[in-house]
Amino acid sequence: MDLSIPLLRWYDRTRRELPWRETRDPYAIWVSEVMLQQTQVKTVIPYFQRWLARFPGVRELSRAEEADVLHAWQGLGYYSRARALKRAAELVVERHGGRLPSKSSELTALPGIGPYSAGAIASIAYGERVPVVDGNVIRVLTRVFALRGDPAKAPLKRELWRRAEELVPAARPGDHNQALMELGATVCVPEKPRCAECPLSKQCRGFASGLAARLPELAPRPKPTQVPMAAAVVKRRGRVAVVQLSASAPRWAGMWLFPAVELAAGEPAERGAERALFENAGLRATAAQKLGTVRHSVTRYRITLEVYECRASSAQASSPGPLWASAAELEGLAMPAAHRRIARWVARAGPA
Ligand code: ADE
Repeated sequence: MDLSIPLLRWYDRTRRELPWRETRDPYAIWVSEVMLQQTQVKTVIPYFQRWLARFPGVRELSRAEEADVLHAWQGLGYYSRARALKRAAELVVERHGGRLPSKSSELTALPGIGPYSAGAIASIAYGERVPVVDGNVIRVLTRVFALRGDPAKAPLKRELWRRAEELVPAARPGDHNQALMELGATVCVPEKPRCAECPLSKQCRGFASGLAARLPELAPRPKPTQVPMAAAVVKRRGRVAVVQLSASAPRWAGMWLFPAVELAAGEPAERGAERALFENAGLRATAAQKLGTVRHSVTRYRITLEVYECRASSAQASSPGPLWASAAELEGLAMPAAHRRIARWVARAGPA
């Protein structure tokens, strides 16, 4: 069945105006697709605009300092995306003369570009007739074709790519793919699909059979795991102690944090904050005052970070010591969102 005609008609009528839809620049489209991988459109917009002002093209990005790249990405999460983007930019300069390759098969050879991003970039920026299958497309297609089973598992996953491929028209493949994603994001939504507004309801087997809202049959998500943590703020002459994670840290590599540890069973948060200062920054200190609690989520982890202001009892840190950052320096460091919040509290409280 030709779903593309009603789909594109709907898209032309209702599509959202998004900054990456006003450009044909493959680099800009690439950046937008990497940002959109795990992040919602409304969060991405300001990041996308700032990113292009700061790194307007592949060459600028390839020459940028990793610290600046992480700083521009801070708050978006999943920072390996930013590091991969920068590494890929370097490879595009080395191997392709600074021009992003146009074939999805060449794109997947670059770091951070999987089949999804490759399909999106090749179809949107270069008009290649290749499909895109992301979470939104999975929802639309499992419903339209009433496909049972877990879309994360091989048989259905393969079938979805095959169906998606069949649907892509030779004309306007990029718009078609974006229309499918857009339909999944705005109409064919998870809990209560708005079938009355859907341009595909006439052809939709899930709608006809009343199954739509129960598809796709995703495996239950892993249960959230609570992670109690403590973080320490210690000040000295108007500066505050922060530490940098190593380049090989499993997450937040290269970013700056207030000293923090996961609490041991039964360990009071004050003791945790003191231990964090000793283990991460070589400082001996005593917890003096609770500054607040920051909650945040990373994948299935629900982190509760209790933050204590501590007073150093020995002025001298064993090496490697922390960085003693002024308010202005703190502003310039790449920090994960939870720690950026603590930095704002510290800035508001003013120098010690
Ligand atoms: N999600 C990811 N990329 C998208 C795009 N280009 N349009 C709509 N939704 C998207």
